[in-house]
Amino acid sequence: MPTILGPTLTTDRLILRPPVYADFEAWVAFAADPEVNRFLGGVQDRAAAWRGMATITGAWPLMGFSMFSVIERTSGRWVGRLGPWQPEGWPSTEIGWGLAREAWGKGYALEGSSAAIDWAFAELGWKEVIHCIDPQNVPSQNLAKRLGSTLRGPIQLPPPMDTWPIEVWGQTKEQWGIHRRNSVLTTGE
Ligand SMILES: CC(C)(COP(=O)(O)OP(=O)(O)OC[C@H]1O[C@@H](n2cnc3c(N)ncnc32)[C@H](O)[C@@H]1OP(=O)(O)O)[C@@H](O)C(=O)NCCC(=O)NCCS
Repeated sequence: MPTILGPTLTTDRLILRPPVYADFEAWVAFAADPEVNRFLGGVQDRAAAWRGMATITGAWPLMGFSMFSVIERTSGRWVGRLGPWQPEGWPSTEIGWGLAREAWGKGYALEGSSAAIDWAFAELGWKEVIHCIDPQNVPSQNLAKRLGSTLRGPIQLPPPMDTWPIEVWGQTKEQWGIHRRNSVLTTGE
């Protein structure tokens, strides 16, 4: 049996848990969708999707946090990945997000990201959350705004993303205390 490397968060409609190998085929489909990957560095083939999934999964035991797989509770389907992200050279403590196209427009990203932010502030001792967003990525900017984050300005990510046009959005833990709307119902190991 594969080991689950971190907590499981449960919200009204979603389960967030570290990735497991059973997520791989859905991850491959996600990585192959041009619309989903327009601002994530472009589409990836199966081998690149494996490396991407292994990087996110491997960060869990390395760092004690990483992005969660997002599971739709009603269907049991994998619908994306989101959560804490801070690879080497990253500007600060990010909550990032990316959902499969069929999961857009339902408030799932808001619901899942809110739970991930709650968890990061409660369990990781973070002082702020940021979101690194392409200036043309309006859906992502709208989500940042719905969470209560504000635009801080342009930023350079570490290579190989150093040529990407990126703006950083964010808010402090204190600001999140005012902005938060969605609740994490249960948290388990
Ligand atoms: C960025 C991304 C996660 C946003 O997803 P999203 O579904 O638009 O975001 P939300 O969860 O906030 O959902 C908001 C939408 O759901 C609708 N909605 C429906 N039911 C809802 C509910 N119960 N609660 C909240 N919103 C709801 C809202 O009206 C809104 O629709 P609108 O965009 O037509 O106004 C998604 O576009 C994505 O995965 N993009 C590709 C990957 C990517 O670019 N990632 C970011 C890199 S920085």
